[in-house]
Amino acid sequence: MISRRLSFVAAVLVALAAGGAAVPASAAETETAVARGGRLYDNWYKELKTTRPDSTHPSYPASGKSPKNSWRCNACHGWDYQGDKAMGIKGIGGAKGKPEAQIVAVLRDKTHAYTPDLLPDVAANELAMFVSKGQTDVAKFVDAAGKPKGNVAKGEVYYNSLCGVCHGADGKKVSTGMALGQASEYPAAVVHKALNGQPAEAMPMLRAFDHQVTADIVAYSQSLPK
Ligand code: HEC
Ligand code: HEC
Repeated sequence: MISRRLSFVAAVLVALAAGGAAVPASAAETETAVARGGRLYDNWYKELKTTRPDSTHPSYPASGKSPKNSWRCNACHGWDYQGDKAMGIKGIGGAKGKPEAQIVAVLRDKTHAYTPDLLPDVAANELAMFVSKGQTDVAKFVDAAGKPKGNVAKGEVYYNSLCGVCHGADGKKVSTGMALGQASEYPAAVVHKALNGQPAEAMPMLRAFDHQVTADIVAYSQSLPK
């Protein structure tokens, strides 16, 4: 009896293995890949520990203010994924829910020019997963004027448990970046980084938690010294 059951299990495993990619990723694997995609969206060359291309991105408009950052997705599509009106670049909201292969094809096209030597297939796919499944509505966290919607007192408790160990009680204990109180002048960026982590750093990603936790932390971080 037992051996019959085992051989049934074995047969299923063989069938699954033959199906290859048909085996669905677990929810945990998907969440991790989406967050990695979010860090690649932030700064793919930092996350991949490669060098930034020397040239300005071919589609970066002359009116753009930061040619040095022009290869980062957020340089054109923004921290809120809405694009940049001043530069005439559209948002990526229309790509939500699209198949990953279709999004990878966009990244490989002439407009984007992310060739596999710059952005290998695995990374391109993670980025596509973020674009398809990971774009959050920043309006859940901050209002149109950038004022946070979270609870500051709760945010302090979460901050001390999750962030203070690295950033310090005053948000100034970091070396390469800016004080968190100052970063809070760019609330959509703080939301993005809190949900997905900081490129190439062992920073936690809060994507899997209730969004209120992040909203509260963002609210508290705005009260930290600049
Ligand atoms: C230098 C500017 C620039 C950068 C950097 C850039 N894009 Fe784009 N992106 C554009 C432009 C311009 C379009 C519109 C192209 C068109 O309509 O043909 C676009 C369109 C898109 C679209 C299609 C949106 C839709 O509604 O169909 C997606 C998805 C996208 N970009 C993702 C990304 C990702 C991910 C990155 C980072 C790896 C990135 N882009 C980096 C300029 C940029
Ligand atoms: C394991 C250490 C670690 C933890 C924990 C951590 N961070 Fe970070 N974070 C970093 C590092 C390293 C950077 C890169 C910038 C630097 O060195 O200052 C960074 C950068 C940031 C930035 C970009 C602004 C800047 O200073 O460059 C934000 C925003 C941020 N972290 C928010 C958070 C929040 C919110 C939490 C808690 C949910 C958190 N971090 C927890 C290590 C950490």
